[in-house]
Amino acid sequence: MEKGNTVNVNSKKAVISAGDHLFIFISPKQMYPLKVVPKETFQTKFGPIKHNDLIGVKYGTKLNLSKGWVYVLPFTPELWTLNLPHRTQILYSTDISMITCQLNLKPGSVVIESGTGSGSLSHAIIRTIAPDGFLHTFDFHLARANEARKEFDDHGLTSLVRVENRDVCQDGFGLKAIADALFLDLPHPWTAIPFAYEAMKPFGSRICCFSPCIEQVQKTVQALQSMCFMDIGTMELVSRPFETKQMKMEKFCFTETPESESNTTNDVKAVPSIQIAGHTGFLTFATKI
Ligand SMILES: C[S@@+](CC[C@H](N)C(=O)[O-])C[C@H]1O[C@@H](n2cnc3c(N)ncnc32)[C@H](O)[C@@H]1O
Repeated sequence: MEKGNTVNVNSKKAVISAGDHLFIFISPKQMYPLKVVPKETFQTKFGPIKHNDLIGVKYGTKLNLSKGWVYVLPFTPELWTLNLPHRTQILYSTDISMITCQLNLKPGSVVIESGTGSGSLSHAIIRTIAPDGFLHTFDFHLARANEARKEFDDHGLTSLVRVENRDVCQDGFGLKAIADALFLDLPHPWTAIPFAYEAMKPFGSRICCFSPCIEQVQKTVQALQSMCFMDIGTMELVSRPFETKQMKMEKFCFTETPESESNTTNDVKAVPSIQIAGHTGFLTFATKI
């Protein structure tokens, strides 16, 4: 991971060096991925950044520019998910964190994924299974497979991932009993289940299928049952953020408030946010026994 063109997805690198990938943070809604190439310059609305001036700077530094400031942040799968070029719909960190946890991913895990799409989930998987795990990722769309391969290469991840252009529903994965975990984000995941069974390790390996519609879940569960998968369960993750703010409210009182006392409170209250991200999809998990 630390060799040559590094992206540091799993490193604790403190200081920026030439070739690093990082993020220029202006605000949570304005971040830019940047590869540090000596002698190049990156323009921001707050003024130019000379790449040479970044080398040797600590990650997390607030960088003063001619008309304002930015932060330089390390490249993480979470920031990549928020800023990657969309070639498809992608998975976001809430679902990704549950997938990583429920599939028991850890350093050394061998994982199979289809489709690769925009590589959002792939980057998180690679971070988790590094330094000695491996991801086999498949997409039947040639241009998407090529783009993803180029991106992994550019991010210095080639020793951890292989992209194959293949229709996994028709032709399977071409792999036998090697995967600790297998993940499907496909329109018809149930058609790939027999191939998935074949590619997964014989005892205790885990599978996850992501589907936006409940009808897809029904067909997937039937296919999992027919292949004798165990522990089949489906979940939907809807996060409900709360806003905490100072609020004045009238006191509720059965008797009249004495004149000397205020009839309002001024406390910190927690209220559900008005903007709640809705349904993304259903996650169906199962174990091969
Ligand atoms: C929604 S995207 C996956 C997004 C990905 N999980 C991410 O986080 O970026 C679905 C991908 O599956 C691919 N796909 C659909 N059917 C396929 C099949 N039968 N075999 C391989 N790939 C397939 C599509 O080309 C598309 O790129």
